[in-house]
Amino acid sequence: MKIGMLTGGGDCPGLNAVIRAVVRKGIFTYEDEFIGFMEGWRGVIEDKSMPLNLDAVGGILPRGGTILRTSRTNPSKRPDGIDRCLSTLEKNQIDALIAIGGDDTLSVAQKLHERGAKVIGVPKTIDNDLGGTDYTFGFDTACNIVCEALDRVHTTAEAHNRVMVVEVMGRDAGWIALYSGIAGGADVILIPERPFDVDKVADSIRQRHERGRYFSIVVVAEGAKFSSEPGQGSPVLQDMGKDEFGHVKLGGIANILAREIEKRTKYETRAVVLGHIQRGGSPSAFDRVLATRYGLGAIDMVHRGEFGCMAALRSNKIVSIPLLEAISRNRTVDSEMIQIVDGLFQKVNDRETV
Ligand code: F6P
Repeated sequence: MKIGMLTGGGDCPGLNAVIRAVVRKGIFTYEDEFIGFMEGWRGVIEDKSMPLNLDAVGGILPRGGTILRTSRTNPSKRPDGIDRCLSTLEKNQIDALIAIGGDDTLSVAQKLHERGAKVIGVPKTIDNDLGGTDYTFGFDTACNIVCEALDRVHTTAEAHNRVMVVEVMGRDAGWIALYSGIAGGADVILIPERPFDVDKVADSIRQRHERGRYFSIVVVAEGAKFSSEPGQGSPVLQDMGKDEFGHVKLGGIANILAREIEKRTKYETRAVVLGHIQRGGSPSAFDRVLATRYGLGAIDMVHRGEFGCMAALRSNKIVSIPLLEAISRNRTVDSEMIQIVDGLFQKVNDRETV
């Protein structure tokens, strides 16, 4: 078969491992031929591709980013975008397309599927919040990076008697904040799923310092929201711009929160924004294995004809689920998980501070 592949949306460590696994198994087992469309859906709209063979995927397993590059291009927002995608696939005689991406990329894959294209999805999001799958690759690497950062922030916070507020990725879901906060021994973890009262955060830090500790670490997801002033109920934005899928640019909550904590507690407080460091560099061993398993699963799905489906991880098995199931809802941190983690923290007033 002649198979096309693309990576769309924000990059994350492990994309190259998926590409490598698909190409190797496709060539060794099925004698497939591959081309890679460049820069997500932009490459399909504009018919820009590169040959993908064993040479092209040699040595890419430990590399971050994606050899196909990526973009947040949305064909539905471009004139005749979907039609142009379909004609590129036809022109290149593509028998099947593997789209590696998050809910945005996969929602385009679903549209093409509805128009008759043979598409398979592979789940990708650093935020780990795609529906239908237990874990996405890249998340583990991000948590390791944040955990290392928290260890480093701990020693400087301790040396200076400071509160450090560390902002991590997590637009709608607080998985990175939660997992890295647990692993890195954070004193307060703030996630988008539970708007927080800054007075209670300050109380909890004060309570800890009264217990004899003289520094604190707060981990806050970029999409977390204040339940009261300042900014009640709305996420903190870098600017008013939106991408082609309608997403705002989040960022800056750590600076506001640090200021508010210092105002209330009088403890010296600093903000650290980890940003894209969390998405860069080499994937962890866990993510290399997970990404490889997704790639091997996806190429098998192509040959079983499971189009309109996505490779998913369920109870440590790679299974095939409808794309629609994956894109219909985000997998956010549920209240049961929040309750479990709450057990780590001392109660402040009537509630915990996770
Ligand atoms: O969707 C994944 C993500 O990393 C979010 O956590 C973050 O808000 C966003 O992408 C950043 O996007 P960009 O790389 O386009 O700045």
